[in-house]
Amino acid sequence: MAAARQRVWVSQPLFADIVARLQPHADVIATPEVTQHSPQAIAAALREVDGALVTLNDPIGAAEVADAPRLRAIANVGVGYNNLDVTALTQAGILITNTPDVLTETTADFGFALMMATARRISEAERWLRDGLWRQWSFETLLGSDVHGATLGILGMGRIGQGIARRAAGFGMRVLYHNRSRLPEAVERECRAEYVDFDELLARADHLVLVLPYSPQVHHLIDAAALAKMKPTATLTNIARGGLVDEDALADALTGGRLAAAGLDVFEGEPAVNPRLLALRNVVLTPHIASGSLATRRAMVALAVDNLIAALGFGPDAGRPPT
Ligand code: DGY
Repeated sequence: MAAARQRVWVSQPLFADIVARLQPHADVIATPEVTQHSPQAIAAALREVDGALVTLNDPIGAAEVADAPRLRAIANVGVGYNNLDVTALTQAGILITNTPDVLTETTADFGFALMMATARRISEAERWLRDGLWRQWSFETLLGSDVHGATLGILGMGRIGQGIARRAAGFGMRVLYHNRSRLPEAVERECRAEYVDFDELLARADHLVLVLPYSPQVHHLIDAAALAKMKPTATLTNIARGGLVDEDALADALTGGRLAAAGLDVFEGEPAVNPRLLALRNVVLTPHIASGSLATRRAMVALAVDNLIAALGFGPDAGRPPT
């Protein structure tokens, strides 16, 4: 008797031509539009399938897989996977994969660009110009702070943090970093980065970039106390996860002249953005697009599809260890 075909749920629209690689091996249940699925809808979708391709829009934990007897693998299309309760899913015997490496350089490009845009007030300047406020060239208009020669602080020195450090060398920046564990000396040399403790990083950085993974242990790591340790002339850039920053404390620091500017690609309640941040001129806001080049987003989906194929044991990737 022929084995039953496997079934895969794709939680969001992803590149259809890449997802189609699953079709010879499995029935694909696609989601035609970007959807904020309710927990009940996620549970219902997972009930019937062997595998799922999901994104950071889709929180999945014990409740969502409680009645998913066939489910064996979830491929997250993203390097961060704080949308998944790893402990609960592992206990339920479900393999989880993510998409490291393929987005490293693109995300580092964006982190550096956002830090520069924040330091040089690029969004604010464009809004000012579009609002018709440019009447005459003036010497003191929209003065920012330098990136070249400044001290860059990187919090979280994984692959993306290291990518940002390598870029900073070209700008003659001094690079300080803090990380859960110190990097091997050879990597520090290659990145021209100096390890410092958290407080020293805050105190010395002219531009601080957050690139660390989110977990409840680092919730609001950048709170009022941390912000108070930073230079009032410093900038803060976050391309990691919104929950790392206490957004009200950040808004207080930015309005109170205790921090010069912030560049935020991620938000605690995204897609909602704290209205206090929306109202500030010295904040650059982007909608979680750090990995968003066409080539990289396609590479992420391709890797996630390959991971799912490997995990579910069909097709040419069967048997290779998923990432
Ligand atoms: C990730 O991969 O974790 C990003 O935040 C989404 O691309």
